[in-house]
Amino acid sequence: MSDIFRQRLRVTAAMTDENGHVNNVEYIRWMQQVAIAHSRAQGGLAILEPLGCTWVARRHEIEYLQPALPGQIIELQTWVSDLRKVRSLRKYRFVRCPDGMLLAQAQTDWVFVETASGRPRSVPDALIRCYPLVGPEREQGLLAALRYETSLADQPVLAADLLAPAATPLHPLLRSRFSPYVFAPRPVAGADLAALFEAARWAPSAYNEQPWRYLLTERGSEAFAQLLACLVPGNQEWAGRAPVLVLCLCQRQFSANGKPNPTAAHDLGLATGNLQIEAGARGLQVHPMSGFDPAAAAATFAVPETVRPVAVLAIGYTGDQEDAASAELWQRDQQRRPRRPTSDFLFAGRYGQPWQAADA
Ligand SMILES: Cc1cc2nc3c(=O)[nH]c(=O)nc-3n(C[C@H](O)[C@H](O)[C@H](O)COP(=O)(O)O)c2cc1C
Repeated sequence: MSDIFRQRLRVTAAMTDENGHVNNVEYIRWMQQVAIAHSRAQGGLAILEPLGCTWVARRHEIEYLQPALPGQIIELQTWVSDLRKVRSLRKYRFVRCPDGMLLAQAQTDWVFVETASGRPRSVPDALIRCYPLVGPEREQGLLAALRYETSLADQPVLAADLLAPAATPLHPLLRSRFSPYVFAPRPVAGADLAALFEAARWAPSAYNEQPWRYLLTERGSEAFAQLLACLVPGNQEWAGRAPVLVLCLCQRQFSANGKPNPTAAHDLGLATGNLQIEAGARGLQVHPMSGFDPAAAAATFAVPETVRPVAVLAIGYTGDQEDAASAELWQRDQQRRPRRPTSDFLFAGRYGQPWQAADA
């Protein structure tokens, strides 16, 4: 285990301010939270309590480099850089997952005091031994070793842990994807929307036909209200709160010869899969829906006969409890939906016979 302690959290809308990103004060809360978790893990808290002593912060220094946004998973990294007499210097890094972007770095000067009097006390040897020191000479090497690991979701998420309990380690973008019923009111920037469809553009397709088509609507527009009206009531209840609704369509025939394209809907699904993963990388989530009236959508948006409306997507940032249309919908988002075991759908030899890895 590294001498750098790590914990992950998911950014919620409640952590953000009117600028739409995590408020600067929140980082101090995170510093406190991860320092306590580290001390508990190292056995430091257990030594502290009977001594009647505690640590108090004397000075914080924080350098903010990039904003943290709702839905993103942030890894908090901390280590003790120096510990002597009555003082400890603790350092922190805030790293976005899974791309490892450093969002902020910080350090705190802690003073060891007697709780009752507030007077500084010498840090006892037993406490000093709890913390592996990571001075400047070790810091860079240890952080470099973490960099790859940071891209794997091997650390627990502190709040609202929605990572899929996958049977084998998977890419964090796959584990953190889900279809939310609760969206934050925050709009999606045009550049992010453009990137989602650029991701769709690079999907594979039979004969490179690229049969996918999308019709994008944003909340507040007439088209959004029209697409919302095409959804079944159960979907309208929550999807109207998403900032973006997208009608997904596919061209039924090959453009070269006019023959039916049997994998058009499949290839639309591949493109939408790309879109979902790019959305996850940008802190967004996507909820697909087949609960809508395709004929009504075709009539409303003047869709040609040769193009088939297949699904609707709700896209946005996951919301907090107060953003939910109902308590029941909020509860739906608090756990991962179950999955069949792989043996139910992965066969070998003949249909129905589960595949097994030769080296399992
Ligand atoms: C093509 C398609 C249609 C879906 N239609 C609906 C729908 O109409 N309403 C709904 O609430 N969820 C709908 N879903 C979401 C599924 O219920 C959801 O993907 C599934 O339960 C697994 O949950 P997860 O995506 O959160 O992992 C649809 C998903 C897909 C891929």
